[in-house]
Amino acid sequence: MLRALLLWCLIPLACVRTQEPTAVPEAVMNATLGADVHSWSHPEQVRVDRIGLTLRVDFDARALEGTAIYELERSDHDAPLWLDTRALQIVAVERSAAAAPTKGLLADAAVTWSAAPWHLADADAVLGAGLGIALATDTKLVRVRWRTAPEASGLQWLDATQTADHQAPFLYSQSQAIHARSWFPNQDTPGVRLRWDARVHTPAPTRALMSADAVESDDGSFAFDMPQTVPSYLIALAVGALEFRALGPRTGVWAEPSRLPGAAAEFGDMEAMLGAVEDRFGPYRWGRYDLLVLPPAFPFGGMENPKLTFATPTIIAGDRSLVSLVAHELAHSWSGNLVTNATWADLWLNEGFTVYLERRIIEALFGRERADMEAVLGRAELDDAFAELAPADQRLRVDLRGRDPDEGLSDVAYEKGALLLLALEQAYGREAFDPFLTRWFSSHAFGSVDTDTFVAFARKELAGRHPVLPGKAAVSLEAWLDGPGVPADAPVPTAAAFARIDQVVAAFARGETSANTLATKGWSPHEWLRFLRMLPKDIAPESLASLDARFSLSASGNAEILAQWLELAVRRGYHPADAALRSFLVEVGRRKFVLPLYQALLETDRAGEAARIYAEAKPGYHPITQASVEDLLTRAHPQPG
Ligand code: BES
Ligand code: ZN
Repeated sequence: MLRALLLWCLIPLACVRTQEPTAVPEAVMNATLGADVHSWSHPEQVRVDRIGLTLRVDFDARALEGTAIYELERSDHDAPLWLDTRALQIVAVERSAAAAPTKGLLADAAVTWSAAPWHLADADAVLGAGLGIALATDTKLVRVRWRTAPEASGLQWLDATQTADHQAPFLYSQSQAIHARSWFPNQDTPGVRLRWDARVHTPAPTRALMSADAVESDDGSFAFDMPQTVPSYLIALAVGALEFRALGPRTGVWAEPSRLPGAAAEFGDMEAMLGAVEDRFGPYRWGRYDLLVLPPAFPFGGMENPKLTFATPTIIAGDRSLVSLVAHELAHSWSGNLVTNATWADLWLNEGFTVYLERRIIEALFGRERADMEAVLGRAELDDAFAELAPADQRLRVDLRGRDPDEGLSDVAYEKGALLLLALEQAYGREAFDPFLTRWFSSHAFGSVDTDTFVAFARKELAGRHPVLPGKAAVSLEAWLDGPGVPADAPVPTAAAFARIDQVVAAFARGETSANTLATKGWSPHEWLRFLRMLPKDIAPESLASLDARFSLSASGNAEILAQWLELAVRRGYHPADAALRSFLVEVGRRKFVLPLYQALLETDRAGEAARIYAEAKPGYHPITQASVEDLLTRAHPQPG
């Protein structure tokens, strides 16, 4: 902990503080954790109801210069306002007794301000620093000015050379779980929802996009308004030389110009996906649904920023085979964005529900067989996760006190969560289950919910209204939520196509077929993934060479297949794939791909090479990916002290 703290302070600006006013009341001196253990805010006393952001993007300094106006709802009139920050340089804090203007952006509000006493607490390595602001009896608005650190954990700054078209630099945010506080002060808990607007000043030829409605602006800046309430982790910004292509009446794609045609072809199913969820689970409540293709450094596959999903370009495979990721992010418009986990301990309410919906979308658009294959692949991932996690971390409801919520991220919330919903679906039948899920969304719309809320709702609205189907047993929610692994009677996804692949692998492993005689005609990318996954763990490098010679796996244009193949190549010492490995690791910053590859290098005594590749790749990695890779590398080679 101490070392983490020291490291944090090596980051320029992280420890810098501007002069605070002298008469600082005692009440703002002591930051304490709130009901959400990952936030210093106390919304039950003073809650931010609306934020108006003004942001100036300085690519040279890699900094955002920001001003935020906060409209407050005050339940406890003696309490200060507490905001979360991380590595922010606070420049000024003011307050006003004026009411928020009823017209125009809150960001543009022209009211009279006076200085407010404030105090920035010492930074915690995981949670950042609480900012306490003293309020007067009549304070309705607060204004804070700040500057971000170049290393802000929620931002990635890229040079023009790190983009697809090399035309302009690029900036994007990734706020989930607790990184919004690194680019603007806010009540950074998913339990607080708010409306927000923004005005963003960016240098030409870049434009700004945010997870909100674009509104007209006549001064060359970009203006946004979010009329629906959202938690802070869903506030997102991207700045770059970006262009738009419409896909359907409500849907479209943003990308750098050279990527636009490929992206438009890949994501042509978005409008139909929206319709598939609406037909089953209630209306889409957010107006437009667009997708932004980010540079390959993006640390995740996708992020469900409202109205504007952020996605990695590694899902553009050319054959729409990886669009379940789009289905996933789009499904979050219901599970996550409309009905939000109240704390990060309830993440399964976001991710498990979303994986369940994702598979229903895939089934609706591409048929049962493909959905089943994805469920089987998901179950295999879950088993891998169980093999590595302590029993307490195999629960759906996890205890994250004193931990970084990024650490609690595993396939358990996703795949075990989805399996629980599948168990309920199978116990009660879709006829009962689909309307139940629709009611879950409609009765908690624009709310933040916890696991107990779900349990009570399921007892009343599902078990209390419908008998289980003949031959089915009731689902024990306690066992699913608080037990390790999955209950013995959990559904077992199966896919006929995979049974055939498994036979092919078995024959190959016994030497009855060779790479040259393998019957792979018509295999889908999913079947290839299954094939690679099922290959014997001790397969000889010569066998890999023969597979590569026939199927050019080292040159696969499908990032899932390539990543799986490269990991196998590293683990089995198949060195002709080394060049492909190096360029993949330097090009792509998606954690899901990058981490297993570094891990495989470390486990095969190639730590030196891992470090060399990382040194080359690091400038292109997002701070989140950098932190995870460095964690791996230092655990392999502990530093003294
Ligand atoms: N919301 C998540 C990403 C996330 C979760 C970021 C928790 C930070 C903390 C997003 O919806 C997601 O799940 N992305 C997945 C893709 C999905 C198809 C499983 C990813 O990025 O791999
Ligand atoms: Zn998700």
